[in-house]
This record gives sequence, C-alpha cells and structure tokens, in this order.
Amino acid sequence: MVDRIGAAWWCACAVGMLVVGACLAGETSEYRRQLGSAVDMPLDADVFRAPPGRNAPQQVHITQGNHDGTAMIISWVTTIEPGSSTVLYGTSEDNLNFSADGKHTQYTFYNYTSGYIHHCTIKKLEFDTKYYYAVGIGQTVRKFWFRTPPKSGPDVPYTFGLIGDLGQSYDSNITLAHYESNSKAQAVLFVGDLCYADNYPYHDNVRWDTWARFVERNVAYQPWIWTAGNHEIDFAPELGETKPFKPYSYRYPTPYKASGSTAPFWYSVKRASAYIIVLASYSSYGKYTPQYKWLEAEFPKVNRSETPWLIVLLHAPWYNSYNYHYMEGESMRVMYEPWFVKYKVDLVFAGHVHAYERTHRISNVAYNIVNGQCTPVHDQSAPVYITIGDGGNQEGLATNMTAPQPGYSAFRESSFGHAILDIKNRTHAYYTWHRNQDGNAVAADSMWFTNRYWQPTDESLDDSQ
Ligand SMILES: [Fe+2]
Repeated sequence: MVDRIGAAWWCACAVGMLVVGACLAGETSEYRRQLGSAVDMPLDADVFRAPPGRNAPQQVHITQGNHDGTAMIISWVTTIEPGSSTVLYGTSEDNLNFSADGKHTQYTFYNYTSGYIHHCTIKKLEFDTKYYYAVGIGQTVRKFWFRTPPKSGPDVPYTFGLIGDLGQSYDSNITLAHYESNSKAQAVLFVGDLCYADNYPYHDNVRWDTWARFVERNVAYQPWIWTAGNHEIDFAPELGETKPFKPYSYRYPTPYKASGSTAPFWYSVKRASAYIIVLASYSSYGKYTPQYKWLEAEFPKVNRSETPWLIVLLHAPWYNSYNYHYMEGESMRVMYEPWFVKYKVDLVFAGHVHAYERTHRISNVAYNIVNGQCTPVHDQSAPVYITIGDGGNQEGLATNMTAPQPGYSAFRESSFGHAILDIKNRTHAYYTWHRNQDGNAVAADSMWFTNRYWQPTDESLDDSQ
C-alpha cells in the first residue's frame, strides 16, 4: 500500500515536471568564462590603502537610516584614538552648517581588536537632495557626499544596483568597477556575504577592515542596503566566539527599528517607488518566531499605490539549479512562499550561489504532503527569483549545474558580474545583468519586468517567453 502510494506520488511529480518542462523552456548560457581561481587581493593592494593623515577616518560607509529615506547612518573607523563621532553636513560643499553626534564602539574577536567604530545617524534630510558630509572633525577631516532618494511615489524612477557575495578578490574589484561605471545607479541592494574574513585562520578580522576600505569608494557615496549572509555569522566556539554575527553587527547597522523589527537582520525600507524587505536566512524564521511574526505583519503594510515595486532580499536562494547549496533555502521557501504569491512580490534577489540565475514567474505552494503537487508551476502572481551571488569572491565560481535545466529556470550562467534594476514607473522596470568579462557596456541578460500590482500579466513584454 505504501509502495503504491509512493509510486503514484512520484508518477504525479514526474508528469508534472514534464508538463512544466514543456511549457517553460530555459536557457543555459553557452558562454564559458576563462576559468581561473578568484584570488584575494594582497594586504598591500592599493585598494586596501588607509587614507593619509593622523587618525584619518577610514572604511566610511552609509546606509539608509530610517524607513522613508530621510535619514542616513554614517559609519567609519579610526585606529589611533577614538576622535570625534560628529558628522558635519549640509547642502553646500563649503557650508556644512548642520551637525549630528554619533557614538563609537569597539569589539574583540579572538586575538583581534577592532578600531574605533563610529556610527552617526543624520536625520530630517530633504528628499532628492545632494548632501555633503565630513567626518574626522578636529583631526584629519575627510569629506564625501550622497543624494537622498526622491519622496516615495508610484511613478518615481530609481536605479538600484544588485551585488552579492562580493569578497575582496581581483574579480571583486572588477565587479565593483563595472558597477561604478554605471552613472545612473543610486543605491546598492546587497544580498549578503561581504568580506569572507571567516575563510582566514581565526576569522582574521583584518579582512573586515580591508574589505571596508576597498568598497569605501562607492559605499561612502551611496547607501548599500545590507542583507546578512552565512559569512557574516562568524560563529566560532573553538575560538571562544559564540555570539553570531558579531563583527557584522558592530560594523554594519541597519534601520530595523524603523520598520518595527526587533533585530537588525530583517527589516524594510522604502526608497522612491520601491518597498524593500530584507529577510534573514540565518535567523529563526519558523512559525511563531520574531522574524515570522514581523513578516506576517509587514506584508499587509505595503501600500502598492505609493511603492508599487515590492522587492525581497535574502541570502540563500529558494530556486537554484546549481549543484551548490542545493535546497538550502527550501525550508524558508516552505514557510514564506504563500505570502510572496498572495502579496504579489515582484522580485526576489538572493546570493550564496556564486553564479547567476533567473527564474520564470513560478510558485510551488500547492504541495500538502499527500497531494503530490510538488512541482513549481507558472504563476503570474509569483515573483521572479534571481540569484546574483556572483560578486567574485575567493571561493570561485559555481560551475556545476543540474541537468537537464529545470523548467522553472529561465536563464543561468557561471560568470561573475552584477545587475542593474532601472525602475521607470509604476508598471515597468528594465533589468540587466552584466557579466564581468564584457565590461559594463554589455548586458548578458536583460529584460523588462512588469509590476505585479499595476500590470499583473506580462502581455507583450512577457519575461517568461
Ligand atoms: Fe553565502
């Protein structure tokens, strides 16, 4: 009896797969990158150089400081002494007539002691305004600038960059340079795994410092929205380090309280016409957990008339057809996918797998253990899932794919790169993925996305054709 049920179940799955496979044809890119190992840049690489001047602020980075984009968290590190935690800022480069006071902190990790880590939130900023800011007040002063987002509205255009699993290899440097060459990009949605310090003996936290100096050239000028990946966990009981996310938490604050979250690893922000929900693949997400209860309350709050584009960031992909980290996102998918379909999430970006993949609009929510409906199906209410863990870190490319390509997978390629999401208005956004080998000018995967709320069928711009 059990065997017969089991056989029927597998048969139903197999038929389902054939049907879906016939409907959805995927593409595995013919492009083959010249394989080489992704080697970390040496400690004396020029991109890691500390700025000149006594106790000069270094590792400057900014992230959105509240829910609507009128605050910014400014962070930096000093190494000789704490110095000032004040930020001077203003709309004229020559007249920084506002100031805000932050705080500094410090942590140890095994035999490493961090510099003085400063965080200062500047608030009540005007929308769509260029601000200049200065840190290191009273000692070596360094100046930067950023632009606040426009006030949220359904047709406000905005351009995001997508970067994941960046690391600090020579390839990472190419990825960042290509991203920087896009003059339209205004903020980065970063899907986790920053510096890979935990791959070094004793999780050598010097690599947290080098990474932050490396990316300063961009993240000091535009906010990166942070997602925690597995390389941020730094759980090392063998070293006496048992507090997960310790270096990450000290260094990279998020505005989680502004969205009612109780931990910095899951939160939301609005930015122009986008509503961005950041989820934590490595924090509890089961029923009754803080993250679950937060997300359950969060989705109904999204006003698609104000922010039509509903984007989710997480680290471990739910749909991934590489033979790396296969099904690691499955338990979170089981918990949350019905909400993603119900609330018509537009796009889900994940990292973790060091390659690129885009799915069709599919869902897999019908399965109830006994009904055999266990195959993803085409679903116009479902998001497109994009794996963009291809930043170029030292662990190298994921090259081994499942064969044949599953029906849900629309396009996949083993190359390093980054993507740009160019939101035009409430109905359309143009998306491009750039592989590193072509430079920024060539888009290896590009398409129009239509908004699930305002244009819920793809029609002539069907991305799944
Ligand atoms: Fe990862």
